[in-house]
Amino acid sequence: MSVTIKSAHEIEIMREAGKILAEVHDEMAKIIRPGISTMDINRRGEDVIRSYGCIPSFLNYNGYPAAICVSVNDEVVHGIPNKKRILQEGDIVSLDAGVIYKGYQSDAARTHGVGQISPESQRLIDITKQSFFKGIEFARAGRHLYEISKAIQDFVEANGYSVVRDLVGHGIGRELHEEPQVPNFKPIGRGMKLRPGMTLAIEPMVNEGAYDVWVLEDDWTVVTKDETRSAHYENTVLITDGEPELLSYCENMS
Ligand code: MF3
Ligand code: CO
Repeated sequence: MSVTIKSAHEIEIMREAGKILAEVHDEMAKIIRPGISTMDINRRGEDVIRSYGCIPSFLNYNGYPAAICVSVNDEVVHGIPNKKRILQEGDIVSLDAGVIYKGYQSDAARTHGVGQISPESQRLIDITKQSFFKGIEFARAGRHLYEISKAIQDFVEANGYSVVRDLVGHGIGRELHEEPQVPNFKPIGRGMKLRPGMTLAIEPMVNEGAYDVWVLEDDWTVVTKDETRSAHYENTVLITDGEPELLSYCENMS
């Protein structure tokens, strides 16, 4: 399948999907504290998704067994919720969620601290979020895709961290993963020209140490090889004639 350009009507639906997803993240953020399990977060997230009449897009996607990906500390992404996995003071936890609303997808991720966290961990979370905002400075019609990738990579590396190479962002619409792939590092070339109506899930995954990752025995959980911490930040973004529109983000929310 090639890159899809969304109509005004499709964009309206994706705006709604994104607003709901921002709300889902906000509600999950409210319950994070030491002592809760990663399954508690999944349950809250799934309940909120369904309360809006949406479908949790990750559930059963390629066999993924939950609604929310909950990844703690050195887990990069795709952590499987577990009622025995209890969050501790000082942990960092990345939450990745997707909704389907009226046939259209939205995808977003946030990383939170659990209780009081170290300044080092807070910095990792902040730089990861900031790298997304550096990237979207180039999410404009007429720019080329890898200008986004380069901006993210340059900012992350200038701050002493690394971007994960094995996983990338993606186009999004009726499908969770559409073309194009959106790397967080600059490949050779400049990538496709961006056009109004494209919708992209831009999602830097940033490691404190080296970029190398591997997958645990559960076949899902991606962890850093060097066991350093990792953070994730993602929004569904619309390319317009002017400023990029963040569909899954509301000012004054996480
Ligand atoms: N947010 C992830 C992505 O962008 C999707 C999680 S994979 C799933 O690719 F299997 F958990 F759905
Ligand atoms: Co995504």
